[in-house]
Amino acid sequence: MSNQMWGGRFASGPDAIMEEINASIGFDYRLWGQDIAGSKAHVAMLAQTGIVLPADAEAITQGLDEVAREIESGKFAFSRALEDIHMNIESRLAELIGPAAGRLHTARSRNDQVALDFKLWVRDTIDEIDGQLADLQKALAEKAEKFADAVMPGFTHLQSAQPVTFGHHLLAYVEMFSRDRGRFHDARVRLNECPLGAAALAGTSFPIDRAATAKALGFDRPTANSLDSVSDRDFVLETLAAAAIAATHLSRFAEEVVLWTTSQFGFVALSDKFTTGSSIMPQKRNPDAAELVRGKSGRIIGDLAGLLVVMKGLPLAYSKDMQEDKEGCFDSLSSLSLCIAAMAGMVRDMAPRVERMKAAAGSGYSTATDLADWLVRALGLPFRQAHHVTGRIVALAAEAGLELEQLTLAQMQSVEAAINQDVFDILGVEKSVRSRTSYGGTAPDNVRLQAQTWAQRLSGGKPR
Ligand code: ARG
Repeated sequence: MSNQMWGGRFASGPDAIMEEINASIGFDYRLWGQDIAGSKAHVAMLAQTGIVLPADAEAITQGLDEVAREIESGKFAFSRALEDIHMNIESRLAELIGPAAGRLHTARSRNDQVALDFKLWVRDTIDEIDGQLADLQKALAEKAEKFADAVMPGFTHLQSAQPVTFGHHLLAYVEMFSRDRGRFHDARVRLNECPLGAAALAGTSFPIDRAATAKALGFDRPTANSLDSVSDRDFVLETLAAAAIAATHLSRFAEEVVLWTTSQFGFVALSDKFTTGSSIMPQKRNPDAAELVRGKSGRIIGDLAGLLVVMKGLPLAYSKDMQEDKEGCFDSLSSLSLCIAAMAGMVRDMAPRVERMKAAAGSGYSTATDLADWLVRALGLPFRQAHHVTGRIVALAAEAGLELEQLTLAQMQSVEAAINQDVFDILGVEKSVRSRTSYGGTAPDNVRLQAQTWAQRLSGGKPR
């Protein structure tokens, strides 16, 4: 049997393998809600402009509502022979209301229909991800406020550099996720033009009202070029790029959680909720959730690369290659959503081991910069000379197997005679972080204020 939706000039049906490679219903069924919303807006406009009779439009609308109920309740029988979600729904509509169903597709093509459905889906999903990222930021800001004073080593090159606070470190991620939300927001602003009415590629001869359908579906305006309308997938690419960058941030954080939970670092502990055991080594508590967040970022980045490659050689307008836009997008955004949720869970679960972090913060001569700054401030040395003097004092301490604050005044004076007792006021890690009061610095009062400001912004529902 030839296809009931487009088989007019076909004598027989497709080869089984043709049906399999052609069908998208296995994944695009996810678009059913958007497809029905788009069709309802379209038929309402067709009635308003007198292109279809009000009675037919009414029957179509009610039929579409019935189809929605069937899908929602799990009663709908999806058919691979009907290729995709668009034809599955239209075919069921015809069974329910008869030939009037055939008027729904007036002045429309599956090309503008799928562009519309997918845009609506991506738009809805961006909104969900934004809410999830805001929740993650909230979890981080709350933890950051609680541990605004907890000193930990700050690293460069993964070598102890200068002490920072745990709260400060967490707030760095709040900033990253804020920019991620900004990128999703930007993509949403740009995608918010309605392609419906572009039809197959050239527009239509029917007197449609594209402004009306655009408005009904929450778009800012209709798209301006019919060829572009059905060819554009950069709204997906941009969203996948935002997802890939957000996943990269999540992955870096996940990597830190993996490091921090090792017995060697021991900076934080995760509870049974976010760890697993080993089947052979009873002592183990593995940070699998963090590892999977780190791992899934690979797929999310790959999904972006995959669609870029699908699109790069396509002439205008629609080509069936573009059906390959969906699986990677669904994969990327559902993986990202899971990763954000897992990360928010881990942040709320993690217990910082404050004493361990503080001990680690003091090792590795992390207050050497404080000493150099003191030599400049208190003794008036030029910074380069202060740097040199400090280097020699660090070498002396290292030889003696001591921390800086464990050296005697006499030992320090053997390097620079002008050093006095006051130097001991600046050598501890807590004194070090308290002195970093420059805007954006790690001083606990700064960190507390930033954390509180974020918590307020986020609870007020303020964007980003
Ligand atoms: N399932 C198709 C897709 O996702 C819908 C558009 C089909 N258009 C066409 N001209 N065959 O791309």
